[in-house]
Amino acid sequence: MIEESEFDFENRIVSPEPIKKDIEEELERSIRPKTLDEYIGQSKAKENMKIYIEAAKQRGEVLDHVLLYGPPGLGKTTLSEIIAHEMGANCRKTNGSAIQKPGDLAALLTNLQEGDVLFIDEIHRLSRAIEEILYPAMEDYVLDIIVGKGPSARSIRLDLNRFTLIGATTIAGQLTAPLRDRFGIIARLEPYSNDELCEIIQRSSMILKSPCDNQGAMELASRSRGTPRVANRLLRRSRDYAQVITGSDTPTLNKELIDTALVRMGVDSLGLDELDRRLLKMIIVSYGGGPVGLETLAAAIGEDARTIEESCEPFLMQLGFLSRTKGGRCATDLAYAHLGMTRNGQTTMFHLGK
Ligand code: ADE
Repeated sequence: MIEESEFDFENRIVSPEPIKKDIEEELERSIRPKTLDEYIGQSKAKENMKIYIEAAKQRGEVLDHVLLYGPPGLGKTTLSEIIAHEMGANCRKTNGSAIQKPGDLAALLTNLQEGDVLFIDEIHRLSRAIEEILYPAMEDYVLDIIVGKGPSARSIRLDLNRFTLIGATTIAGQLTAPLRDRFGIIARLEPYSNDELCEIIQRSSMILKSPCDNQGAMELASRSRGTPRVANRLLRRSRDYAQVITGSDTPTLNKELIDTALVRMGVDSLGLDELDRRLLKMIIVSYGGGPVGLETLAAAIGEDARTIEESCEPFLMQLGFLSRTKGGRCATDLAYAHLGMTRNGQTTMFHLGK
């Protein structure tokens, strides 16, 4: 069991975001699908994209601009790379927060070759000034640059190569209406079902030469928070464990090995980790089940309010374990039951695994 003091809240194994300094970033990239046919799940978005790509290719046109939205970790970057690959184009990747000055965007746009994909993650973070430059670039593939200052300032128009902008954001409503309206294709990515995750895990496990049996893959899937990135990360850690325990560098992963590995990682039967459980227990034990304000809660568990709001709460609410009310956060009956606690202060047995 992991002691609370050694728990690394910044690099949570169940985080839907890429883990900072992830030494296995390269490995993660190597197991990503390269084509739409290899890409599992998101059937609606995938089938539509297939049609739009085929149509654009038949007409010899570049693909219209694409907006991908949905929770983190569902494969927005992967899908962009696949779209570029299917179009036979390069994919240039950046983040909305990295484009601070008009010159930053101009440098990106003028370096694109005909048909290239420009992927801007967290596109809602672009400033209005940068957005304004993007509009003519998206509509007419031109860049209007102001040269000089004051009364002698004038605007120069530069032609750009035709390109496809793929913007990614968690919530489409975070985008300004003029920017949203300039995307011809808008696709929403959904959390993955356990069956889809199971398929992804089995595909990845074959690439990693550690085949995972059906029951094992299903166990991993049900503890991966609906997120391929989490599933693949838990798979790699389970493989490490299995390799050391069995002495084989190509171990077969079964349910028992996976359960033991995940319990050691502090990931419980539904995919909650130490931070999720600490949060719920704090509401239950110290605040009578709530309501308690976010800031108070954050201070009580010694964690940043934003981390709690963005990294813990969405999944706990999806499970129906946490509710947000006007008065603050409340633990639900389901949360009490999962933790083996009752509203009158009694506890029952709580197991991390199966
Ligand atoms: N790895 C990560 N996401 C995937 C997906 N959607 N399909 C196949 N492998 C994946």
